[in-house]
Amino acid sequence: MPATSAITAVYHATTTTASTSATSRAVSTVTSTAPVTLSSTAPAAGTTTAAVTAAPTTSTTTAAPTTTTTTAAQATTTATAVTTTTIPPVTTTSAVSDPNMVQRIQLTDSDFTITVGGRALSFVTMFPVSAQDKSATWESSEPNIATVDAIGNITGISEGECTVTVKSKANPEVYADIKVKVIDSTRVREIILSKYTMELNVDQKDIAYVTMNPSTALDKNEIWTSSDESVASVDKWGNVCGISEGECTITVYSRSNPAVKADISVAVKDPNKVSGIKLSTDELTIPIDKKGISYVTMLPANASDKEEIWVCSDSRIAKVDQNGWITGVSEGYCAVTVYSKANPNVYASIKVHITDPGKVREIKLSSTELEIEPGKRGISYVTMLPETAADVTEIWSSSDPDIASVDEWGNILGVSEGTCKITVQSASNPEVTAEIKVTVKNRTTTSSATTTTTATTVTSSVTTSTTAAAPQHLVQVQNGVTYIDGILVVNKSYKLSESYDAKGLNPIVADSFRRLSTEAASKGLSIVCTSGYRSYADQERIYNNYVAVNGAEITDTFSARPGHSEHQTGLAIDVNSISDAFEGTPECRWLAENAHRFGFIIRYPKGKENITGFRYEPWHIRYVGASAAEAIYTSGLCLEEYLGIDSYYH
Ligand code: DAL
Ligand code: ZN
Repeated sequence: MPATSAITAVYHATTTTASTSATSRAVSTVTSTAPVTLSSTAPAAGTTTAAVTAAPTTSTTTAAPTTTTTTAAQATTTATAVTTTTIPPVTTTSAVSDPNMVQRIQLTDSDFTITVGGRALSFVTMFPVSAQDKSATWESSEPNIATVDAIGNITGISEGECTVTVKSKANPEVYADIKVKVIDSTRVREIILSKYTMELNVDQKDIAYVTMNPSTALDKNEIWTSSDESVASVDKWGNVCGISEGECTITVYSRSNPAVKADISVAVKDPNKVSGIKLSTDELTIPIDKKGISYVTMLPANASDKEEIWVCSDSRIAKVDQNGWITGVSEGYCAVTVYSKANPNVYASIKVHITDPGKVREIKLSSTELEIEPGKRGISYVTMLPETAADVTEIWSSSDPDIASVDEWGNILGVSEGTCKITVQSASNPEVTAEIKVTVKNRTTTSSATTTTTATTVTSSVTTSTTAAAPQHLVQVQNGVTYIDGILVVNKSYKLSESYDAKGLNPIVADSFRRLSTEAASKGLSIVCTSGYRSYADQERIYNNYVAVNGAEITDTFSARPGHSEHQTGLAIDVNSISDAFEGTPECRWLAENAHRFGFIIRYPKGKENITGFRYEPWHIRYVGASAAEAIYTSGLCLEEYLGIDSYYH
């Protein structure tokens, strides 16, 4: 007989997640939360039947659910199973139940995990304790996974899960189940790695150390694979090697249990790959048909493959070759981009502006602010850009001609005190304009005239009977050409550069001369142009021809050296006969008396040879504008005297 002892269980309301495996059928129950005390028999290991003795149950008492935890560490098993069992509300038979018949089976364990070959045992208590036959039968649902013997010893056979059921022999309707999980400790269940990420350079190697669990696993062989061999390779020992820039996954599998694996995330960097592009400029302005380039530096300097790929966003605007040379096709904007061929993620772009070289794009002024006195002139010199612009015709206007007027040449005349705006516009591209703020103001002293910041002043070396103080002159040099008080100056002292080219007779001059000639004609006089504009080369030829005949010294008295002739400016005209025969003609007299009314002066007057540097030339008239011409005519001065300059070859 098994030893019988009394145990006391105190039922309380605590529950656990585990559910009971004990089942009782065909009993009518009444529940109650009142604690009860039970006496049961604790079976010894290996007992066939759990004999339970208890006082007859009452018909009205049911305990609340409770939890007991039992550790089954049996000498007869190799498994250690920790099982949590919730004992359901104690179910008691009704008054009509047979107190000698088993009505419920209670187990110490309802869940086991054992290894193959391992053993486990759950202790059984049959209720009521008064039952006569407490013997049990045992059965496994899958004997190939776990067997159970006649006294309840469970043995793991192979990996898997099954149910072991214990039934009351006397009342087989009463039974309890034990869930059994059998694991094979000779198989790999888990792979632990010493690292799960790797950052490698190309050609750099690394390894992650592997632990296969459980340690009792028989076959711990590894199988290594790479998700992308072109990024990183791995050999059969797990040596990983960076191949090219990118990311991939290295995986190690258990050969004996390929469902078990572990991954390593690998990032490979190429330190010699282009990572950036620097440009010498990111904006270029290129005329149509011209080339431009922005120089490229691929970074890092030691990048192995610095090959460039050039692309233009709009081939109608510009073309780019594979050396980066950009050629203008038509006016407009586009983007030119250079990519690293080895690493096309790296690129840099140039904003390209293709311009029409024949079109004025910008007007630059020598001064944007001028202060002049009423009745005096001022000028701000114009440069139309680009220099290649075909039509550089200027259109001048004044916001208030009652304060300052402006002629077609940009000569500004102070009219009355005040401020106004003088605007110059490109005739060929009217969008392009520039403005001068003009202040017309009376000055209190004659000797402290102010000038624009870009100009210098010279003091006239000439004094007249009417002028006590030396007048100040505005001297400005624009593109190598000197203007004094707004009058372009060319003589022996003031030279035009070889590249200066007026390209023809100035149209204003031509028009003024036409009016002069027409009026002369109305008086029965014939005044015609016999020599107007000359290029530098023309003047060079003329001068050299004279030198060949007369020698340089004599020639220098009447023919200007190339670069020193007013004819090169398009502002001078020789009329009728370039000879002494012209002097004394009615045309010569009329011209001397009337030329100023049309803006011309007799440039080389009689008696002024030592000042002008040239012999008397009654036929050579020079356009200086009507007001200057009148002033010079009235003063009796030659231009050099009027402007306070000299004329000799330096
Ligand atoms: N006869 C003048 C000085 C000239 O050659 O331009
Ligand atoms: Zn001349």
